[in-house]
Amino acid sequence: MPKQVPSQAQEEPIWQRISRSCRLDDRPLILFDAVDSTNTQALALAKEGAESGTVVIAQTQSNGRGRLGRTWESPKGAGLYFSIITRPPLQSKDLSKITLAVGLALRNGVAKVSAIEARLKWPNDLLFAEKKMAGVLTENDMTAGSGPTIVIGIGLNVNTTADTLPVELAARATSMYIAAGRFFDRGAVLAAVLREVDREIARLVNNDFGGILADWRANDAAYGKWLTWLTPKGQKITGLSLGPDEEGLLHIRDAGGTNHPVLSGDLEITVAR
Ligand code: BTN
Repeated sequence: MPKQVPSQAQEEPIWQRISRSCRLDDRPLILFDAVDSTNTQALALAKEGAESGTVVIAQTQSNGRGRLGRTWESPKGAGLYFSIITRPPLQSKDLSKITLAVGLALRNGVAKVSAIEARLKWPNDLLFAEKKMAGVLTENDMTAGSGPTIVIGIGLNVNTTADTLPVELAARATSMYIAAGRFFDRGAVLAAVLREVDREIARLVNNDFGGILADWRANDAAYGKWLTWLTPKGQKITGLSLGPDEEGLLHIRDAGGTNHPVLSGDLEITVAR
């Protein structure tokens, strides 16, 4: 019999509290049953002046967006799909640092509630046993109502079972449930991740990107491995991953010894040469 995602009544005392109060700790939380994309909604709410720290979350998304125009599969009630509206005193050039800081926060939040030691793949993937458990999509709106706004979108597969994952993703994706063999209270996971995001952004604002980078590198899934980089111009470059630098850019060194700084594009960990 196919495994069921636990119903809200079975799981999640915190989730039910969130749904009733529309707050989590001291921040506003807007919960949708179904939505196109929490990032799209958060960007619109930010334009209307939504408070910094507001979280927009949905039980499911019909058009969850990932990096490079990809879709984020959002099976109902199984994962966490949320976006944080934030206005930290940072500049748009710091966006790649924020993405790394948030990836680290996500990794640490998951570890705190589950003891799952997931690893990071630049710029925004959380991997466990080489499969993707979560991703981060950071977007900014420099024209939003109450000052420059950053929307941090996080998709985390929490109670997604192998048979609720779309077939085409099964070989590449995982969840906290698959990694730990038990279900998790999504509210508790959300609270832990939000606490860690606040912590890492505070570190960034306090000029400690060096500390974030050191922690990020200690959990880098790809360091010293061969990566194939599909550049935004469609060129394929294969090289050894040297990890991210002080600006948040990834560096890979090809077989001829040339160092390539990576700002964007698709990366795949390839078999060792
Ligand atoms: C990626 O790995 O490419 C990033 C995936 C980010 C998905 C999340 S789900 C919540 C938020 N809303 C979206 O439309 N995307 C992000």
